[in-house]
Amino acid sequence: MTQSDLKNDGLHVAIIMDGNGRWAQARGKPRTAGHLAGATAVRRVIESAPAFGIRTLTLYAFSSDNWKRPRPEVSALMRLLERYLRTETASCVEQGVCLRVIGRRDRLPERVQRAIADAEQTTAAGTTLQLRLAIDYSSRDELVRAAAHAPQSRDEFAQWLAQHTVQADVDLVIRTGGEQRLSDFLLWESAYAELYFTPIAWPDFDRRALAEAIAEFSRRQRRFGAVLDTTAVAS
Ligand code: IPE
Ligand code: IPE
Ligand code: MG
Repeated sequence: MTQSDLKNDGLHVAIIMDGNGRWAQARGKPRTAGHLAGATAVRRVIESAPAFGIRTLTLYAFSSDNWKRPRPEVSALMRLLERYLRTETASCVEQGVCLRVIGRRDRLPERVQRAIADAEQTTAAGTTLQLRLAIDYSSRDELVRAAAHAPQSRDEFAQWLAQHTVQADVDLVIRTGGEQRLSDFLLWESAYAELYFTPIAWPDFDRRALAEAIAEFSRRQRRFGAVLDTTAVAS
């Protein structure tokens, strides 16, 4: 492990895995071929993450606005998610990955709901990497639901937030695919996150690309609204 890896120990990195469709179209393939290739990139990044000091990894797999896509694409994505959850569980256990899904579950096909429940149960003891998959996820919806919960009791509200919305603050948001926006992802948790945008399409994102993102993160100076060099403050 290098010094910068150690400095970054315990990072929460969140990735907006974008550019699958354009990646496929540029190769004369249907958009769904891009999603399939994207699943391989997910595997690569999960394997690489712990060595970079990443303790929590949140991956944006399907946004609540993605229901607006053509039905065949949505169906293909749901099938792919189910397959991914079913086939990756064993290697998650092997690697010490604890998988949790954030987002709404009630609108997902039952098969996907079951695959999520099974994967969460089977990987629950993992301690090397907390992997959070955001599926049917909308940050605005989560905040509205949390707020709607507020009048009950303070303890209950805190518990709700801990379970459903606010996990560790995000240190670094990576968006692949060239767009520079958050698309309703972790708006609360990313209040002081560093933002990193890369033109690399998600299916091409690999260990080296992750290393570059982490290196750039290490060069940033995070201040959280404070002044770091107090000797420079005029009296
Ligand atoms: C991201 O890739 C995957 C999902 C949103 C499910 P896109 O499908 O958005 O790919 P582009 O942005 O159209 O290239
Ligand atoms: C964000 O990508 C959602 C995921 C990567 C899962 P989109 O492709 O849906 O975002 P927009 O539409 O370009 O903002
Ligand atoms: Mg996109």
